[in-house]
Amino acid sequence: MAPHDLDRARLVALLDVERATYTRTHPRSAEQYARADHLFGRVPMTWMNMWSGGFPLYLDRARGNRVVDVDGQEYVDFAMGDTGAMAGHSPGATVEAVTARMRDLGGITTMLPTADAEWVGAELARRFGLPLWSFTLTATDANRWAIRIARLVTGRPKILTFAYCYHGSVDEAFAVPGPAGQAVAREGLVGAPVALSETTRVAEFNDLAGVEEQLRAGDVAAILTEPALTNIGIVLPEPGFLSGLRELATRYGALLMIDETHTFSAGPGGATALWDLQPDLFVIGKSIGGGIPSGAYGLTREVAAAAMSRDDADLVDVGGVGGTLAGSALSVTAMRATLEHVLTETAFERMVALAGDFTAGVQATLDRTGVPWTVQQLGARAEYRFAAPAPRTGSDSAAAADDELDEYLHLFMANRGVLITPFHNMALMCPDTSAADVALHTRLFEEAVTALTRPRT
Ligand SMILES: Cc1ncc(COP(=O)(O)O)c(C=O)c1O
Repeated sequence: MAPHDLDRARLVALLDVERATYTRTHPRSAEQYARADHLFGRVPMTWMNMWSGGFPLYLDRARGNRVVDVDGQEYVDFAMGDTGAMAGHSPGATVEAVTARMRDLGGITTMLPTADAEWVGAELARRFGLPLWSFTLTATDANRWAIRIARLVTGRPKILTFAYCYHGSVDEAFAVPGPAGQAVAREGLVGAPVALSETTRVAEFNDLAGVEEQLRAGDVAAILTEPALTNIGIVLPEPGFLSGLRELATRYGALLMIDETHTFSAGPGGATALWDLQPDLFVIGKSIGGGIPSGAYGLTREVAAAAMSRDDADLVDVGGVGGTLAGSALSVTAMRATLEHVLTETAFERMVALAGDFTAGVQATLDRTGVPWTVQQLGARAEYRFAAPAPRTGSDSAAAADDELDEYLHLFMANRGVLITPFHNMALMCPDTSAADVALHTRLFEEAVTALTRPRT
């Protein structure tokens, strides 16, 4: 049964029931949303309208993997701020450290370094292998600045990305292949500064021949990728794909730039350590500050030396690499506490094991009901997608999108006390997730799919 073979009338009827329940049981959230007349799109950030049900839940409080909304409903959270809260909501060690910085010592942002910065740089080097680091407040900025470094040291204009990748609001990354293989803007792209073909080359994930074809022109500064695509479902790399990228990058004089903002879920050293990826530039953000705005990019000594040797590049003042609050005492304190005490090797061991249980639970329902969906796991993260076999490119995965099914599953879960991401169907374990939480999701997923597929009586 393909997704479109589902009984759509039944799906719509079930969805209507879930929508009505959601509206009835969340009057305070609905009211706050209706009153938000001074917010662009009625939300603090327009993507918050991705939440299913017509309005987002309004947050009252959150700790560990529990979220409580303003209607007093408590949820087991598997969305975890789309990885921003992978360390758990308000992790104790991070809260203590930032509180000490803010309340006891003072100095949230002063433009002066603290000793914690070197500690964090050394820890990131130990985990991910790159020796030199610079800080940002978001993964988007880390990507933007690392891209500038790549252009500076190679003297080349373009970035090679993969169809349906996402690297934050980085202009270069919103490309899909056009009819002649050239980069064209992805549908819906807002305000592109120039035609994507001027800045970007694009290939399909898992297609080394396509990558090589794009590299032949000799104008690619860096191949930018996640080790697995995670923003169009999870698309895992096939054996040899990532080592092939490394090899092609070297052969064609491009840098390999790995963005582990989400794939950090793979383990304490991300997929880079797990799969020995050897990037020239590396990007991370979201979770490493335990929710306090933080990000970082890492460089090899060769790339750093090449950048530093360029007298014509203003890396210190207004050359385009900088953010006033980046590397602030607050942000760096948060990164140190989170890496030292929260996202530890022991925590990852538990989180990955629980994601294994989550994946097995979903798979059991898929096997029993025969729906042609797949579930993929990457360390502490798992995601189901409405396609089987699992998509091997971003374009294949994009073709399997089904907004009604997404909304049904999101609302079915939310109405029974479980949150998964508003973006497709991702679930992330954090250090506070328990086996009982995973079992709850397994039971609800089984009930949701059974309701969809039960033979009519
Ligand atoms: C792989 C990847 N890189 C970068 C980003 C951007 O992160 P931020 O929005 O925190 O800048 C995201 C956001 O989802 C991401 O998935």
